[in-house]
Amino acid sequence: MKKSNAKPAKISPELEKKIEELIGKMTLNEKVNQMLQLSYHALPAEEFNKKVEAGLQGSYLHVLGPETGRYNDGAASSRLGIMPMFGIDAVHGHALLHGATVFPSQLAMACSFDEELVEKIGLATAKEVAADGLDWVFSPVLCIGRDLRWGRVDETFGEDTLVVSRLGAAIIRGYQTDGLVAACAKHYLAYGEATGGRDAYDTEITERKARESFLPPFRAVVDAGCMTFMTAYGSIDGIPVMISRRYLREILKDEFGFDGFVVTDWANFQALVKRQYIAKDETEAAKLGVLAGNDMSMNTPEFERGCTEAVERGDIPMEFIDDAVRRILRVKARLGLLDGTRKRPDRSVIGCAEHEKLNYRAALESCVLLENNGILPLDRKKLGKVAVIGPNADDWRAQIGDWTFLSHPSPNPDAEPNDVNVTVLSGLRAALPDTEIVYEPGCVIEKEISDEESDRMMHAAIAAARDADVVVLVLGDDLAENGETKDRSDLTLYGRQNELARRISAVCQNVVTVMVTGKPLVLGEVKKCSAALLQCFNGGDLGGKAVAALLLGDENFSGKLPISFPYSTGTLPCYYNQYDYWHDGRYMDAPTTNLYYFGRGLSYSEFEYGDVKLSSDKISADGEFAVTVDIKNVSERDGVEVVQLYFRDLVCSRLTPVRTLIDFARVEIPAGETKTVTFRVPASSLGFVSEKYDNVVEPGDFRLFVSGDGEHFKTATLTVTE
Ligand code: NOJ
Repeated sequence: MKKSNAKPAKISPELEKKIEELIGKMTLNEKVNQMLQLSYHALPAEEFNKKVEAGLQGSYLHVLGPETGRYNDGAASSRLGIMPMFGIDAVHGHALLHGATVFPSQLAMACSFDEELVEKIGLATAKEVAADGLDWVFSPVLCIGRDLRWGRVDETFGEDTLVVSRLGAAIIRGYQTDGLVAACAKHYLAYGEATGGRDAYDTEITERKARESFLPPFRAVVDAGCMTFMTAYGSIDGIPVMISRRYLREILKDEFGFDGFVVTDWANFQALVKRQYIAKDETEAAKLGVLAGNDMSMNTPEFERGCTEAVERGDIPMEFIDDAVRRILRVKARLGLLDGTRKRPDRSVIGCAEHEKLNYRAALESCVLLENNGILPLDRKKLGKVAVIGPNADDWRAQIGDWTFLSHPSPNPDAEPNDVNVTVLSGLRAALPDTEIVYEPGCVIEKEISDEESDRMMHAAIAAARDADVVVLVLGDDLAENGETKDRSDLTLYGRQNELARRISAVCQNVVTVMVTGKPLVLGEVKKCSAALLQCFNGGDLGGKAVAALLLGDENFSGKLPISFPYSTGTLPCYYNQYDYWHDGRYMDAPTTNLYYFGRGLSYSEFEYGDVKLSSDKISADGEFAVTVDIKNVSERDGVEVVQLYFRDLVCSRLTPVRTLIDFARVEIPAGETKTVTFRVPASSLGFVSEKYDNVVEPGDFRLFVSGDGEHFKTATLTVTE
């Protein structure tokens, strides 16, 4: 696919002039209000309505569709008539709007390793958001999901810096196509790396570490033209990121050349005073935040008074305010909000058939086959009776995941499913109209039920399993266990789920387990009890339809894990690219290895890798080389393989990870055919970040690893010369 041009169009000289003229005319109050974003949660209704009527606010968040009218009217009748930007958490589709397409979660879509797909999801989402009258998506999350206890791992593209960078840039290209909406890279910086996996907590990393692992995705999206950034709640080494002049002004704006604007996260200015005890009042908070490089305050109404006072006292020079306002107005200009040229698709795109089709493809590519003893694909002709068992078999809420109309902004837990919503149970029923299918949930995940009811459910499920040819067991987590403030101290399956798996497998050999979860959980028990195991994460509206088609072999698997699965909660962190050398490399009471590694994913096709060839086995540090490998599909089934290229520096003056991913490619390989995959790699990709923050490639030997599962490798050695 041709990459779309997401780079914001250059603003015309007329618009630049208009922005300067506006800034020249604006009062301090008008400027400060442009720097303010409010939700209806921020103030008592009467006060909030007055603000809406006055129409000075730069932005609102969590306003949906038809509601935008009164906000726009307020702005249009204000002195300068500057229209607001409406921001929304459309993080896997415009999912806060009931009826819009709900795509798989970010973690699920990352299993595809498919930049083209992710870009298309971005574009479809942007069309639905813009058609709904909104302008700005608070997406993508570029945090690295390395501490699985953290409640927001489902929102990440997984644990690898390169995958996060590439998929992050792809979704932004989609969002910002033709200025449909502005994207927002969040949460800057290292939010997911907080100590203990604690949401919005302190992170102990050095700047060198930040540059090695956490900054590259943000730099990649600046290069892709991302229009806005959101700061993280947390702090790095005791300094809240939102007052870090180093990370915001010096690195993001000056060094990376970010020319959009920075918004804080929810009530961050207030948190500086009330939760982090950094500023004595809102005036000091405004001073610290604005001088550091924040341009817009999300949902701290006190910012208006604080910032005004700080400017009047001379604590914030006017040029800082003008710079923030200029950045905000430029983004508005790029969206067509300043000169009345804003274009919006017709509302009929919301939840349209074309997006449903794309969503089905996304759901298919999001499923990862972890185990298969040959039971899959299920043979329709031999299926007498199927028992579908498990608490997530027919729970569309657990399937679609966090950040939907069910949980935000005003939770609507009683909402009915969309017409398009297909769970594993309804998907199997539709795909197997002539097969007897019985359904038993077997247990609950978190709900309170009596012991009698719990036993009754368990026994009914065991009886159904005993009687069935095949059990499809659907386990996992639910909405209560994923998202902000939902960090877990234990990743074991909740409730009686492991017991259910054990007891079912004792009465039926043919158990196919499907995990519908926000993030990796501890699956040791489940693995032992399963003839096949699928990891689906939150597959969106059509997750169940995709699972049914994959189980029956109507479709093939191509997904790979973008994140590793631990042996137990205590063996965290388990990301693949850690340092070597830890006495015996293991805890005394756990195996050396993870349960599943980054990169794993089986398929109905079988691929054989040839030897790795290098264009040259010696190159200079500023050179480039090519890595080539032949991959043969030795099965009778057409398939897609995600080929991964890693490296390791064999002698380096700093510790280097056991392996680092430097490229990947999705390749279609028809049955019986061989495809040659070539990666072109600049030698600079083999570097490490020095204490001076340079990328250094030290001369010496490097091992290159090519793999289709992150565990078995074909290798070659390359020498970098002086
Ligand atoms: C809090 C979250 O951290 C952020 O991701 C989200 O975009 C904002 N609030 C707005 O809802």
